[in-house]
Amino acid sequence: MPFGWQWGADMSGYFYLTTPIYYVNAEAHIGHTYTTVLCDTIVRYRRLCGDTCFFLTGSDEHGEKVLEVARRRGESPAQTAEYFSNSFLRVWEEIGISHDRFIRTTDADHKQVVQQILQRVYDEGEIRFKEYEGLYCVGCERFLTDRDMLDGLCRDHERAPEPRTEANYFFDMGAHFSWLRDYIEQNPDFIRPERYKNEVLAMLDEETGLGGELCISRPKSRLDWGIELPFDTDYVCYVWFDALINYLTGIGYPDGPHFQDYWSNCEHVVGKDILKPHGVFWPTMLRAIGLEPPRHVSVHGYWNVDDRKVSKSLGNMIDPLIMREKYGFEAFRYFLLRDMVFGQDSNFSEDALVRRINADLANNIGNLVSRTLNMTGRFAGGLVPEPGAIEIPEREVIDAAATAVAEVDLRMRGMRPQRALESILALVDATNRYLELREPWKAAKDPELADTVSTTLHTCCESLRIVALLLAAFLPVAAAEILDRLGLGDALETAVLPASAEWGGIPVGSPTRKGKPLFPRIETAGAEDAESKDGAD
Ligand code: MSP
Repeated sequence: MPFGWQWGADMSGYFYLTTPIYYVNAEAHIGHTYTTVLCDTIVRYRRLCGDTCFFLTGSDEHGEKVLEVARRRGESPAQTAEYFSNSFLRVWEEIGISHDRFIRTTDADHKQVVQQILQRVYDEGEIRFKEYEGLYCVGCERFLTDRDMLDGLCRDHERAPEPRTEANYFFDMGAHFSWLRDYIEQNPDFIRPERYKNEVLAMLDEETGLGGELCISRPKSRLDWGIELPFDTDYVCYVWFDALINYLTGIGYPDGPHFQDYWSNCEHVVGKDILKPHGVFWPTMLRAIGLEPPRHVSVHGYWNVDDRKVSKSLGNMIDPLIMREKYGFEAFRYFLLRDMVFGQDSNFSEDALVRRINADLANNIGNLVSRTLNMTGRFAGGLVPEPGAIEIPEREVIDAAATAVAEVDLRMRGMRPQRALESILALVDATNRYLELREPWKAAKDPELADTVSTTLHTCCESLRIVALLLAAFLPVAAAEILDRLGLGDALETAVLPASAEWGGIPVGSPTRKGKPLFPRIETAGAEDAESKDGAD
């Protein structure tokens, strides 16, 4: 029973996560940045849980799209690919993405793997040669079906596809459709969120109606920028067939030392526009070479600006490096993760970004950090004090911390990062409310209550430690800074979640440090003025 195991809690301790590989026809924008940052966050979380992780990203360099841009730029496709691939890599490095490999589809090992797979599928009789007629969109790099078009134009690229007739090689995807349908029904969270699972089922019906064949070649006479077919040197491989295989090359297919460990624990994150290649083409390709499907294909929506998709072809891109310069990269990263409900579209505006930074980062998290550390400095000599009796208010914070740890785990594994952030913020809120209730700034002056101050400050420092551990995957720099200010500079090197986030981990006497505001409020004319909660000093 090769495909029959049950997905369960991660028994193996391996975790393999991929972004789509980006077309080298323009610079990185908010859409690419979102996918990459999201994967970076998920993988950082799993590393903190002690899993052995591999995080793959890279560039998709063949195909007509790149050839078109190279012609416009007056250079060879290899030069264009090199230029934009380096540009993506540089941006990811500048914003601190923690990938394990940046794969290029022009890498020698990838070319070899693609040819090996093509030959195998050909030898098994699943590839046929025939003439085909259809409407081709260069933007999508594929033949379109009725569902892909609106008023004769490609829905995604808003341009008319070209009629094309060509003799080509076709992969018989349809031979695996009934297996795929059953597989999707039996593994309802294989494609998630659910609406995309239903979309793939509808695509399968439609593709069945169209014969279930995938054109996997391009004649060199029209396009010679690609990987040559091993069984016909007049043709190159269709860019999607080549590109999807990067997920195998990246971890050493077929016999790299950990290939099977990683492959059995593979998850892809993709945007909704590339659902068909990942939900239909890819599982059937894998089936043809005897590999299981990935555990999950998690599908996100679009970032829009003024309710239109941000894209290279529409020219309304948001540059991540400019955002970094204006707001700091972690603030932008936080906004992306917090403001997109996974699976749905989201609208970007700088006003929304500023409102979010001020409300969550400056007024909420930043405020808790500064109040706690200021008061530990003032009332406890800067050292985490010994706690006294635990009463109901303390118990509520302790319970809120346990809830946050459990919810974050569930939500990160379920690919709901925005919900995981809500869980962390609920702990921050509970701790801020607790401070308001205990009012240590007043208690310290009241002989009857002075004893409670140590307990209050201990509770806040410990809550902050847990908040920082949970935030580390989302805001690696800020979280490390919070821990450092709590005197726990190396905590992230040794932490293993969830155990390290259990209540009681902060050592009494740990030396704390106040520091500058972690996330300064951004003052703009239009920004909503949420009231500062800083009543402490
Ligand atoms: N090269 C293919 C992917 C091959 S994977 C084997 C490709 N490249 S892309 O550069 O055009 O897009 C890469 C990813 O960016 C896709 O997941 C796409 O959905 C995402 N985004 C591009 N624009 C986007 C938004 N405006 N918003 C969110 N993500 C979108 O497709």
